Amino acid sequence: MKNTKKFPEKGMERSALIAQMKAMSKDDADWRSGRNFAYVYFAGDEILDTVKEAFGMFFSENALNPTAFPSLRKMEAEVIGMAADLLGSDGVVTGSLTSGGTESILMACKTARTWGKKERGIETPEIILPETAHPAFHKACYYFGMKAVVVPVGTDFKAQPEVMEGLINENTVLLVGSAPSYPQGIIDPITEIAGIAKKHKILCHVDACVGGFFLPFLKQFKPDLSPFDFEVEGVTSMSADIHKYGYAAKGASVILYKDAVLRKHQFYVYTEWSGGIYGSPAIAGTRPGGAIAGAWAALNFIGMEGYVKLAQRTMAVRAKLLESLEDIPSLKVLGQPDMSIVCLGSDTLNIYEVGDELSVMGWLIDRQQNPASLHLTLTPAHEKSIDAFVQDLHKAVNKAKQLTLNKLGNKLQVSTVKGLRKVLSESMFEKFQQYAAKYSDVGGKRSAAMYGMMGDLQASGNLDEMILEFLDKLMSDD
Ligand SMILES: Cc1ncc(COP(=O)(O)O)c(C=O)c1O
Repeated sequence: MKNTKKFPEKGMERSALIAQMKAMSKDDADWRSGRNFAYVYFAGDEILDTVKEAFGMFFSENALNPTAFPSLRKMEAEVIGMAADLLGSDGVVTGSLTSGGTESILMACKTARTWGKKERGIETPEIILPETAHPAFHKACYYFGMKAVVVPVGTDFKAQPEVMEGLINENTVLLVGSAPSYPQGIIDPITEIAGIAKKHKILCHVDACVGGFFLPFLKQFKPDLSPFDFEVEGVTSMSADIHKYGYAAKGASVILYKDAVLRKHQFYVYTEWSGGIYGSPAIAGTRPGGAIAGAWAALNFIGMEGYVKLAQRTMAVRAKLLESLEDIPSLKVLGQPDMSIVCLGSDTLNIYEVGDELSVMGWLIDRQQNPASLHLTLTPAHEKSIDAFVQDLHKAVNKAKQLTLNKLGNKLQVSTVKGLRKVLSESMFEKFQQYAAKYSDVGGKRSAAMYGMMGDLQASGNLDEMILEFLDKLMSDD
């Protein structure tokens, strides 16, 4: 595979450089006007500009050495303190700031592994998690040589604690629950899962990456929310992302532990290096001052009152959406979402075709599988777009009713398959063609066909290989 981009001989002029970058962003998701339902959490320009200024102020500072930048050390400690306070700390909960939800989860799993080895002599650690738990747990198992034991969720899309308990053995170090899960936005039965962990004297992680900076505010005006934080007996760690509903700059999450004794299992120290004694709390070495400052600024600028208002506004968007769905009986919400994530499915339509029509109308909406569904993460940015979205949703559903995959044009199929020839190796492409023959419009804005085909590829064991090739190409092409 070739990447033809050459290193620039001379530096570019600043205005030309900025103009080129602006031009490059022209096809990016339009998050400002609320046309995306994932990836960006936007709560208005005032917050954005304040966080940006804070980020810029500490743009060059490096939290690798906390003694060099006491300001960052203080901000980091305060962010951890504020997050712990928000998530039910009894005063001894502590943690670390990381680059995002994935790093926080990696750290929780690595900590459980080290804890298992040191405290229990476990050499082949296992974690038990519901199928809806984020892939970061699988990544952790892959990186750290642990076994992921996946448990199906119930018809309500919640983890099944009794099934999880039945899978505990002498190698189990960690049980996982989400608050809420990403796919359907539902809080797992944390009290039960954590209770089981406590009974078996193992660890319990609550993944509140998406809910950690939303549920505590929601609880202020919806007190019947299922318990999800350190107030629950048996919860030993939590992940919560400030770069999601905390509205901080990307690169900010916290991993919290019930106490400093457990957190110690996360740290890494190397004392033999000729460069000096090296200690590092989490995965990153150099840690960006901007992200820490941005997180500190967001929490202090918005405050409890501000976050509660933002949660209320977001829940009002959700209410509007759910109400309008009553007029679209061919769509259904999967499960009973606890917060601002709504997952749409259908018993009568191909939901991916609905998604395709929405994509064609300029909405960025993620497809999910098992079961087939569309994912919507709502934010205050959707206040201005929700009416237009509902109108387009009606149109998309009507279109999907008329559509079947077979009616889609062959022309589209030819052009996308041509594109895929560039992406896949010869042998993979041949395999792919055998499957693609049955489907049309693979790639492009429409993905209903892609998902149909992926089901087949998965069954044949070829999907992983194809996605790996795709990632390789994505990362190396110019
Ligand atoms: C529940 C949950 N956990 C973990 C993550 C991973 O977070 P990140 O993308 O910041 O690594 C996400 C991301 O959406 C999530 O929703």
